[in-house]
Amino acid sequence: MNNKRGFASDNNSGVHPSVLKAINSVNEGHVAAYGDDPYTVAAIQKIRDHFGGSVEVYFVFTGTGANVLGLKAATETWNSVICAQTSHIHCDECGAPEFFTGCKLLTVDAPDGKITCELIKKHLHGFDFEHHAQPGVVSLTQATEMGTVYTPDEIREISDLVHSRGLLVHMDGARICNAAAALNVTFREITADAGVDILSFGGTKNGLMYGEAIVFFNPLLSKNFKYVRKQGMQLASKMRYIAAQFDAMLTGDLWLKNASHANRMAQLLADEVSRIPRIRITQKVQINGVFAIIPPEIIHELQQEYFFYEWDESASEVRWMTSWDTSEDDIRGFVKLLKEKVI
Ligand SMILES: Cc1ncc(COP(=O)(O)O)c(C=O)c1O
Repeated sequence: MNNKRGFASDNNSGVHPSVLKAINSVNEGHVAAYGDDPYTVAAIQKIRDHFGGSVEVYFVFTGTGANVLGLKAATETWNSVICAQTSHIHCDECGAPEFFTGCKLLTVDAPDGKITCELIKKHLHGFDFEHHAQPGVVSLTQATEMGTVYTPDEIREISDLVHSRGLLVHMDGARICNAAAALNVTFREITADAGVDILSFGGTKNGLMYGEAIVFFNPLLSKNFKYVRKQGMQLASKMRYIAAQFDAMLTGDLWLKNASHANRMAQLLADEVSRIPRIRITQKVQINGVFAIIPPEIIHELQQEYFFYEWDESASEVRWMTSWDTSEDDIRGFVKLLKEKVI
């Protein structure tokens, strides 16, 4: 089997050894199931230490689960959710947000993945009009699916607008670790302090085996959430194993080391490929992803050795993702091959 590290996704990487060790370390004896155990309590406390003491935290299995259930907690079936055209909730969740929440997703065209106040305003109408889905939530992705990041001020500006019209701010933070590392800020500065109401706090892409957390900054929104999570089939009976992974990620700044490393590898890759003729980087490289237009005829051959995805086939645009385990040798090997094929 070819287990070579490629550039397809940060989900393709394995589990960080410290996280595996943490899973093993809680694998002793019996503890109460469904989160009533000391490991879950400890991990929630660690998350509170990062985000603020009053946040409510619920672990779930998947990022889609976190997004869908977070949105469910914030909406009624007649609401709409404003999001980027490129957002995961719109493109990659098989319609689950619409299916589970009943809400209409209203997209805005944001070529770099970032929603702006101007774009949001286009959808802020029809309030109190019974024929119109009622704008309820703006969902931002931090970092975006296009590898870009929102600054704390940009998030604050959006939150202020959104709150002034009675909407809530949801953040898909599948890559919030990469964003915080890139911006050199705390999690709190780009969530609670910037007006975010609900966060999907991602772990899987940053070295966990599986597991995400939904963080509520507004406790009113989580009032009945335990029922929502159970009905949504995301309540883990053996919760201690998700909790232990988050605990490990937040111990000794492992989250920051992993994310910074992945970001650095993307930067290295971008620096190297930008010198190769016929390759054009199409997005700012701010986290662990590089988007580039490359000659179409070499894509298939490259993929045989280092797998990655085509992002926009019609434009011959590809996406290269790095991960916590990407090495400089991986980058150099890939760049060498790329040079051979292009020239
Ligand atoms: C931006 C974003 N949100 C959420 C997810 C989580 O998805 P999953 O349900 O596969 O864990 C992903 C995974 O690719 C993602 O890229």
